[in-house]
Amino acid sequence: MPRLITLSRAARLVGVKRGVLQKRIREGELRTFEGELLLSELLHAYPQTEVEDTSMLERVESIMERAVNKIIRPDDDTLDTSTMAARILSLGQELARARGKARRNADIIESLKNKFEELSNSEGQTQEQAFSTLREWFYQTLETLKMSDEESGLIAQEAFLRVMAAQVRILPGGHEFFIEGSDSILEAGLRGGLALNYGCSNGSCGLCKCKVVSGQVKQIARHDYALTEAEKGLGYILACSNTAVTDVVLEADEAHGSYDIPAQEIEIKVKKIAPVDDRVIFLQAKTPRTKRLRFLAGQYLSLNVKGLPVTDVAIASCPCDDMNLQFHIPVIAGDPFSEKLEGCLKAGDSLVINGPCGEFILNEDSPRSLVFIACNTGFAPIKSLIEHAMALDTAEDIHLFWISTPGNHHYLDNLCRSWDDALDNFHYTALAATGSKTVEDLLPAITTGLTDVPGHDYYACMPAPLLDLTRDFLDTAGIPAHQQKLEPVRHDPGK
Ligand code: FES
Repeated sequence: MPRLITLSRAARLVGVKRGVLQKRIREGELRTFEGELLLSELLHAYPQTEVEDTSMLERVESIMERAVNKIIRPDDDTLDTSTMAARILSLGQELARARGKARRNADIIESLKNKFEELSNSEGQTQEQAFSTLREWFYQTLETLKMSDEESGLIAQEAFLRVMAAQVRILPGGHEFFIEGSDSILEAGLRGGLALNYGCSNGSCGLCKCKVVSGQVKQIARHDYALTEAEKGLGYILACSNTAVTDVVLEADEAHGSYDIPAQEIEIKVKKIAPVDDRVIFLQAKTPRTKRLRFLAGQYLSLNVKGLPVTDVAIASCPCDDMNLQFHIPVIAGDPFSEKLEGCLKAGDSLVINGPCGEFILNEDSPRSLVFIACNTGFAPIKSLIEHAMALDTAEDIHLFWISTPGNHHYLDNLCRSWDDALDNFHYTALAATGSKTVEDLLPAITTGLTDVPGHDYYACMPAPLLDLTRDFLDTAGIPAHQQKLEPVRHDPGK
């Protein structure tokens, strides 16, 4: 029986982005059967596939470390996670081999049954001829059902990935993500870039209620919200209090736009506030565990700091971490907010945030690759969008062009370079408008290296006066309006 595998799991197995497999499907190089791929075709397309045991071991060890720490006292030193990881690896491989053998035997028995039927219905053959036909067919069948070493290895790896991570599929959206260790479905979903519906994250509001369509889940935390007996009977659970034991399919609500995200007012605590250089202040803050910020990547908030005017600032962090928020605040001469901010706030102080607002969000339904254009602190919402796109893992290619104007710097240049180094599909270009070079002069560099200029979606965040220039440039390059999203820098020194 042909072995099928979901797109997400296939991407993990052969170590490519889902977008790459989707492209090969669109181009007819890989076939899908109800959204799944044939394992044998996958191996054919990626013959060099191999997952090194050592990296797998390290990965399992870190997953187990986190899981064990969650459920066992952290000072319990009787647990040796590396030994446990090695045992799981060995058991997983053994199980995969046994399952492969059992599957082959079942296939042979099924084929044999059909052949007997066929022979008993055929006329004109002597017993001896029938036996010889049967013997010949049997050896041929054994040969065709014999799996290649590569294929059985791939099945063993796939089985091992199942031990390490359960896959969750959300209906009706069809989005997928993996749960590693004993993370909750909600935690893993947010980390996977999904905008699942939720409120408190701790089992009291009921907003993360979802229905198990198939698979097995396990409650990992107590919850005060009471599901009715009827709801329990229908398979409803709370995503923040359960994890997946096997691959599961769930019916759950997801936000489709900013209109699905409620307005929130939260008192947050400063973790760190420090100037990055003389033009940018870095602010890191934390929400309470029980009142986290639900937002979409690319949105902004109002910061309400005692003694300072209320100011809109873009969120520079990813919604996949809804407790730790980051802001890059431009320092503007003569502006009371940025000039006095450092004097008014220190680590441990509180401030109030209101929001989120804004429509500068990712079009997740688009199959196109992504181009991000940032200018100065316009990098903040772009960073949030890039981290979200990385969590979603669907874009085939991501390009970042970060322009600095005189006096400004690429203040997180190292971060962008590390993305570029670590990810095959991420490409970073730093551009500086210095000397006689203006931003307008630099814009052509954005499309010069792209092979399919109209085949990308463009997201730009820049000081307002530069946005018109960028729009004109993209229009001239033939980019349709629906593939352009342009956002002015919030709290903009250029205004
Ligand atoms: S998010 Fe409130 S109960 Fe799960």
